[in-house]
Amino acid sequence: MTIRAILAGVAGLAMTVAGLQTAAADDVVKVGLILPMTGPFASTGRQVSAGAKTFMAKHGATVGGKTIELVIRDDGGVADQTRRVAQELVVNDGAAILAGFGLTPLAMSVAPVSTQAKVPTIVMAAGTASITKASEFITRTSGTLPQYSLPVGTWASQNGIKSVVTLVSDYGPGLDAEKWFTKEFTSKGGTVTEAVRVPLQNPDFAPFLQRVRDAKPDAVFVFLPSGVGSLFMKQFNERGLADAGIKLIATGDVTDDDILNSMGPSAIGTITGHFYATSHDSPENKAYVEAFKKENDGMRPNFMSVGGYDGMALIYAALEKTGGDASGPAFMEAVKGLSWTSPRGPVSIDPETRDIIQNIYVREVKEVDGELHNVEFATFEALKDPEKAEAP
Ligand code: PHB
Repeated sequence: MTIRAILAGVAGLAMTVAGLQTAAADDVVKVGLILPMTGPFASTGRQVSAGAKTFMAKHGATVGGKTIELVIRDDGGVADQTRRVAQELVVNDGAAILAGFGLTPLAMSVAPVSTQAKVPTIVMAAGTASITKASEFITRTSGTLPQYSLPVGTWASQNGIKSVVTLVSDYGPGLDAEKWFTKEFTSKGGTVTEAVRVPLQNPDFAPFLQRVRDAKPDAVFVFLPSGVGSLFMKQFNERGLADAGIKLIATGDVTDDDILNSMGPSAIGTITGHFYATSHDSPENKAYVEAFKKENDGMRPNFMSVGGYDGMALIYAALEKTGGDASGPAFMEAVKGLSWTSPRGPVSIDPETRDIIQNIYVREVKEVDGELHNVEFATFEALKDPEKAEAP
């Protein structure tokens, strides 16, 4: 065999391998899941990724003739990292879909990448209303703060609460929560006497809680991102707000099911609004909680996990519709109007805004069988994001 023949053979082999790789890549849809797996918001990463994996364990890795490959990457909760990892996933790793996003600034940092590369982007955790407006390739399976703050305002106005101080994390979702609780509560005759904003990073609530105590409202309405609730609850008690007769009402992020049990009996009686409780009573949720606990060493699934689970449900349903086509325009067209039964209840994707339409439940923290739970007692059915309903 001449050298030339050998070289030709090697070249041919290389071409075949390259061809095979392309063929294999054609059969695979890579989903880049970018989450805070480390840092102060690691509980969000743990829950969302576990929810996504629970979905795949149940439904397998094949849909629309494609194999779904989940690639989980840590951004440490830092927006610059989120954007860098997103670019890498799209350009170097061939990710066709991006998903995850534990906090609003992390989701926002990726919007330009989504638009430029026309990559379907599924927000599974962050909750500021405006995120879906940042790119036409963004859709969402968590929820919006206006959506689940407004019902708390309705409940408060109907249950003898006349004056409220709001206390929120000083960034996108906190400002949304403050605006929509206040709008609803005051339109029904309530008064918000003070609006307190606390830093997102390393919050010490003590001085802010003292301000609330001094203002002596009937109730304090609180939004803090998932993971911070136990520290808040501890300081709420230490400052004697409950003893002073100030009722705690909040978004469900504060009484997050992941950490609720560690908050102790002082959390009992807290009223919150949210889209998911581990104790939600439906056959779909019973099956979900059981499967999730089995896959995750008995960990209790919270609302973040359901955002991850439903994010995968959305991806599978859209790819089923497009016959495996994950390209931006085809995928986003397929997303519009999708509906399915989630562990949280019925959900759909608003064809106009690409945001999620879902039930919001008003809940009370109660002890059930020796554990603390958010027990749902009222339902606001099929709510659209009120912010976009007002200014689409
Ligand atoms: C957000 O940053 O959008 C966010 C984070 C945690 C939550 C809710 C919203 O629990």
